Amino acid sequence: MACLVVVVVGLVEGVAEAAAVVEGLGVNWGTMASHQMLPEMVVRMMRDNGIKRVKIFDADPWTLKSLEGSEMEVMVAIPNDMLGIMQSYESAKEWVDKNVTRYTHPGGVNIRYVAVGNEAFLKAYKGRFMNTTFPALQNIQKALNEAGHGHNIKVTTPLNADVYNSPDSNPVPSAGTFRSDIQSLMTDIVQFLDGNSSPFVVNIYPFLSLNQNPNFPIDFAFFDGGATPLNDNGVAYNNVFDANYDTLVHALRKAGVPNMKIVVGEVGWPTDGVNFANISFAKRFYDGFLKKMASGKGTPLRPGNLDVYLFGLIDEDQKSVLPGDFERHWGIFRYDGQPKFPIDLSGGGNNRYLVPAKGVQYVGNLWCVFNKNVKNQKKLKQLGGQVSYACTLADCTALNYGGSCNGLDQQGNVSYAFNQYFQFQDQDVEACSFKGLGVVTKVNASSGGCLFPVQIVSGSARAAAHVSFLLLLWLVVVVLTV
Ligand SMILES: *[C@@H]1O[C@H](CO)[C@@H](O)[C@H](O)[C@H]1NC(C)=O
Ligand SMILES: *[C@@H]1O[C@H](CO)[C@@H](O)[C@H](O)[C@H]1NC(C)=O
Ligand SMILES: *[C@@H]1O[C@H](CO)[C@@H](O)[C@H](O)[C@H]1NC(C)=O
Ligand SMILES: *[C@@H]1O[C@H](CO)[C@@H](O)[C@H](O)[C@H]1NC(C)=O
Ligand SMILES: *[C@@H]1O[C@H](CO)[C@@H](O)[C@H](O)[C@H]1NC(C)=O
Repeated sequence: MACLVVVVVGLVEGVAEAAAVVEGLGVNWGTMASHQMLPEMVVRMMRDNGIKRVKIFDADPWTLKSLEGSEMEVMVAIPNDMLGIMQSYESAKEWVDKNVTRYTHPGGVNIRYVAVGNEAFLKAYKGRFMNTTFPALQNIQKALNEAGHGHNIKVTTPLNADVYNSPDSNPVPSAGTFRSDIQSLMTDIVQFLDGNSSPFVVNIYPFLSLNQNPNFPIDFAFFDGGATPLNDNGVAYNNVFDANYDTLVHALRKAGVPNMKIVVGEVGWPTDGVNFANISFAKRFYDGFLKKMASGKGTPLRPGNLDVYLFGLIDEDQKSVLPGDFERHWGIFRYDGQPKFPIDLSGGGNNRYLVPAKGVQYVGNLWCVFNKNVKNQKKLKQLGGQVSYACTLADCTALNYGGSCNGLDQQGNVSYAFNQYFQFQDQDVEACSFKGLGVVTKVNASSGGCLFPVQIVSGSARAAAHVSFLLLLWLVVVVLTV
């Protein structure tokens, strides 16, 4: 009887989970956070929101285990720093064996793509991966074929949209070609991928177009009209996403693969750290983009459904800020699995929040703030140094101009930095000393739109605690039996 009740409850829960999402939608699940939720919580959160496709940036066994039995379609990846090793076919075989074949049994992980490298031809890499990407692609594909996965699992290499462009003298999609320094390489790669029915995976960021160009017409980054259309020989472009996507279509035509499948590997909008990166702009972007997806209109050259992975699922406070201070704020969820703003993944434009993560534990309700009792001038002179120290390790990008905490006064700034470091260090009291300038408080220090977060118990710490508990249990059993 008890069993029956459990089964019924399980079924009801299963029905409640089935939120509808627009056809072709997936998410990027990055893990560069100091404190991670348990992977099974993240998987549950995705499923609670109807998300059925996920792209990860490695083949981490912990992550993949959590996806076992989920039926979610998964894109695993080989990081750029492993491309060199994959020049050897033996290594490629071993990689496929350990990171793919191991999971493809019934009830395992539904791996559909292997991403070989990530934005490997980014101009910023100065050609570092130019010689290794294509051979790695070929080796991994061969190894997949040999292991019998060739039909189900495709290789690809997600690339940044900077691998193609139109000349400044004629900035229209129809003038699009692959970048001159990699043109013949790109031609070889796309012909190889297309011959294998593998897609071109491209990352397109209207946010960056706006962020990098002070003269960019704001409305052209969004999908609700208002921008002067770009006219390309009679084809009108109302937004930069379509224009960018079709520039790729033209480049593919010129490279001899006019019908190659395109998947958007990353698209999204950050919510903090710089101008234009805020919740209202992100909401506007996603509202328009998801409605566009639901309409099935595609782009002028490729009408039909879009295949897309949103970037990203969760904020990642350890990402490099070299590309910009928005980097740690791409999540549609916060660091703790709380939705940031209403978003309707069905593309229906409803003003509703996503289902938050379940079972997340917080370290405690403590904050670290500037100690206002300190009046000693000599001590106060050390504030700057202490703030820099805190912000080198912890994330203070919300303090920047355009960020959600830019309105704080000077003491607020100090408190914010101190608290970020204190949370980063799991609220360790030692981490709030700052030479006597910091003090721990139970009073929520958040102010206005600026959230002073409390950190979560990190997944790895929880897993470790679980292991030591089992170990303890085992010891007790051993002691008792002896
Ligand atoms: C994937 O396979 C390679 C062996 O080629 C191994 O070095 C690597 O650790 C594996 N990755 C994971 C996450 O197991
Ligand atoms: C790539 O190969 C070319 C030609 O063999 C060589 O000149 C170049 O230095 C290589 N680049 C790297 C980054 O290894
Ligand atoms: C979002 O950013 C834009 C551009 O910087 C700004 O005009 C707008 O007021 C911001 N919205 C909010 C809610 O901060
Ligand atoms: C707070 O810090 C930010 C970022 O360092 C800075 O732009 C701002 O001017 C500071 N505010 C005050 C009042 O010092
Ligand atoms: C602290 O206050 C902010 C703003 O009012 C709120 O969003 C947040 O949930 C509070 N944090 C805690 C742990 O209560």
